Amino acid sequence: MKAETREVTISVNGREMTRRTEVRTLLSDFLRHELGLTGTHVGCEHGVCGACTVLVDGVPMRSCLALAVQADGAAVETVEGLAPEGELSQMQQAMRDEHGLQCGFCTPGILMSMLAAERAGVSCAEACGDVLGGHVCRCTGYQGIRAAVRRRWAALPAARGEETPA
Ligand code: FES
Ligand code: FES
Repeated sequence: MKAETREVTISVNGREMTRRTEVRTLLSDFLRHELGLTGTHVGCEHGVCGACTVLVDGVPMRSCLALAVQADGAAVETVEGLAPEGELSQMQQAMRDEHGLQCGFCTPGILMSMLAAERAGVSCAEACGDVLGGHVCRCTGYQGIRAAVRRRWAALPAARGEETPA
């Protein structure tokens, strides 16, 4: 039986992309395989590890749990949008400065969640706690990542960086 397909238009990192895709295509696969945006990593494919996190209309979402057709008409942000000219974003630079990654598999998802957290005005404690808690990193022991988050939050307007957990 032929798989049902549908045309999907998504604004990805500010550029409108239209593709005809099977209705069962996951958003993560759509980004990676149909648009070639392999910065969105796929680990567990069960919504657990957070590696596939992207922003959909500004909200962090596990792209392995969403269908591409569900994002039709939405604005999606991926890690590729953080450094469009090749210059690292401030959170990316903080991760680099604090050695917040080893293999880097978890990194894109963490960066996207931190971007949403920054925009939402969450505290440093919450970013290091609940937000980071949604991401599995098998390499770092989280110390470098937490240091990077603290560094980034310390550079935010005063009240934002005041709670800086050790
Ligand atoms: S690959 Fe989506 S949460 Fe792990
Ligand atoms: S740096 Fe390897 S999984 Fe996080």
